[in-house]
Amino acid sequence: MRAADLSDDLERVLYTQEEVAGRIDEMAAAIDRDYKGRDPLLVGVLNGAVMTMADLCRAMTSHCQMDWMAVSSYGAGTKSSGVVRILKDLTTDIDGRDVLIVEDIIDTGLTLSYLVQNLRTRNPASLEIMAMFRKPEAAGSAVDVKYVGYDIPDEFVVGYGLDYAGRYRNLTDVATLRHEVYEA
Ligand code: XMP
Ligand code: MG
Repeated sequence: MRAADLSDDLERVLYTQEEVAGRIDEMAAAIDRDYKGRDPLLVGVLNGAVMTMADLCRAMTSHCQMDWMAVSSYGAGTKSSGVVRILKDLTTDIDGRDVLIVEDIIDTGLTLSYLVQNLRTRNPASLEIMAMFRKPEAAGSAVDVKYVGYDIPDEFVVGYGLDYAGRYRNLTDVATLRHEVYEA
């Protein structure tokens, strides 16, 4: 669905479907260049990164493989605590592989710093991060994100895989919600 279909729920569109698609193409081109001839393993973080992964890997012109992890981050409300539990682990042995984590959004960076620590113990040849969106707090964290789609303001956003209470993932544009939706 498009933002126009949800005009009662949305406050502001940050990026349209077309803008997101254009940015994905640019990022895929950079990743193609950097991983030329290396057959990287893209590790998507469920569920939010599904759209980013699907579009990114198809925009690439070189071979890659895909695997998925699901994690839950313990914490009160909408902020994560850094205590992360693996709900679904990789099925691929990443020893000696060039691994690129594909994430939807980084807020505090705590989830990703746990993931990076965990995956490093498995001896990948290289380990980098691609995140479609990054909030200001993440810029101050220790996590080094090689590929960032957009730096966004510190607001809760939905669409392109990002949800509020499980909804809006299938919104093709990226937007903030009206307060009435939270309060309802
Ligand atoms: P940290 O703080 O560990 O959190 O970097 C990253 C995870 O928090 C979720 N998150 C959001 N989800 N809209 C969402 O739908 C948002 O604006 C948002 N900010 C953080 C998300 O699951 C991400 O993986
Ligand atoms: Mg996520």
